[in-house]
Amino acid sequence: MIQTLKIIQPDDFHIHLRQQNYLKDTVRYAEKFKKILVMPNLTPPIVSIQQAKIYREEILFYSKNNSLEPYMTLYLNKSLSKQELFEFRDHNWLLGIKLYPSGVTTHSEYGIDKIEEYFSYFELMEKLNIPLLVHAEVNDDNIDFFDREKVFIDLYLSRIRNVFPELKIVLEHVSSKEGVEFVLESQNIAATITPHHLLLTRNDLFLPRLNPHHYCLPVLKTKEDRDFIAKVVLSGNPKFFAGTDSAPHPVYKKECSLSSAGIFTSPIAIELYITFFEKNRCLDKTVIENFLSVNGSKFYHLPINQTTITIVKEIQKIPESYPLGNDKVIPMWANRNLTWKVISN
Ligand code: NCD
Ligand code: ZN
Repeated sequence: MIQTLKIIQPDDFHIHLRQQNYLKDTVRYAEKFKKILVMPNLTPPIVSIQQAKIYREEILFYSKNNSLEPYMTLYLNKSLSKQELFEFRDHNWLLGIKLYPSGVTTHSEYGIDKIEEYFSYFELMEKLNIPLLVHAEVNDDNIDFFDREKVFIDLYLSRIRNVFPELKIVLEHVSSKEGVEFVLESQNIAATITPHHLLLTRNDLFLPRLNPHHYCLPVLKTKEDRDFIAKVVLSGNPKFFAGTDSAPHPVYKKECSLSSAGIFTSPIAIELYITFFEKNRCLDKTVIENFLSVNGSKFYHLPINQTTITIVKEIQKIPESYPLGNDKVIPMWANRNLTWKVISN
């Protein structure tokens, strides 16, 4: 039985670090990873290179030994000037532009309403080789909540792909069978996958009783969806890579009516991914390493990390909560035992 895994240090290509008095903690929690791709949904959102630069410097300031490599995204809306697109490629720490349909998730009120109005951006991004990162869910009360991803792909994403075939797109936190199928059949499209979409199903939202700490967007789907996502990861397909979507909210915003969406996994995410691989009897170093540490860098044309980490078979209890500024955040599987532990990096 495998007791130790030594792999290239993993990257997290989708993380929410928040801001102000939460930032110091969230940066520390992310530090088992080497590269992190930081989402721009702050208040106000990051819509300029200058704002992204300042945010990145703050992140670096809090990073111990400067070991973390933060990469940044800009938030697509009308305030994002086209001039920024022309200058985007001058900064090697800028990786993509994030599309949030308005109202679909946390701080997406600044997001976009009519996708067609952004086709001129997509055209330019295609020309300038700037990836489009998509939160692929429709915001429509008439659509069944669990179908939001599928419908967004049918109505919008497939159209964007067809009109801009050379545009690099990342279907962020893919959560459905249809989402995976769409990536598989598309040329320039990749997807990030979270630990929770690999380990949980929508039953975990309701059983044993309603659990707000399992509520995230895109919402957890059926076992069939989860198993389909698992299969593509276990197959070693290079279009899929790790992005935790670790999205901390203070306890008071989770344990209340109108609970916020987001699952916090950052400090234990590598161990959660390894748990997924073990559960599926695939402790195959190459498959694990490609998914956690290689595929994403290749997609974004970044160098592969020189550093490694060691993960050992050892029981560690997930804390009941973690400090988040003056508040607390409850992680996925709080108080449960993990059987893997990252011991060095
Ligand atoms: C994210 C957040 O809280 O910022 N929430 C979530 O459930 N994933 C936003 C997002 O990525 O949708
Ligand atoms: Zn996210």
